[in-house]
Amino acid sequence: MQTTLVLLKPDCVQRNLMGEVIGRFERKGLTILGMKMLQLDDALINEHYGFLSDKPFFPSIVKYMKSSPIVAMAVKGANAVPTIRTMSGATNPVDALPGTIRGDFALSIDGNIMHASDSEETAKEELARFFKTEEIFEYERLDNVVL
Ligand code: CMP
Repeated sequence: MQTTLVLLKPDCVQRNLMGEVIGRFERKGLTILGMKMLQLDDALINEHYGFLSDKPFFPSIVKYMKSSPIVAMAVKGANAVPTIRTMSGATNPVDALPGTIRGDFALSIDGNIMHASDSEETAKEELARFFKTEEIFEYERLDNVVL
């Protein structure tokens, strides 16, 4: 089992697409272990996207990611890291296939609906960035329990 970090970005929140994206994860069989809405500040954005700080588009990422609250989620499941990346679709919505979240709902690379960790190692780092240990709930889902 893997647990990964998903961020529902400002355009997802502003366009009322949170339920749509969360519903896709639920219907896929993934389990949400943690979820919270938060307003990002410069420090957290610099930490999360620091590897892009020398890119010309970095200022627009900072502006966009601060433009609205976002939702952070810890999502668990078999192969959750690559599965959610596949469900998300390509970073640039132009390349995201129909049926993926970005393919169905996004038009621009800035407003691309969601972020998802790209490896198990990154997921561990990113989960620790957004969640305290006590904010992640390990629990058995009723539909996974043999009664
Ligand atoms: P994300 O998966 O959150 O990781 C880095 C983000 O940078 C990416 O999604 C995009 O939203 C954003 N971004 C903006 N412009 C670009 C670009 N030209 N190339 C890659 N990522 C970009």
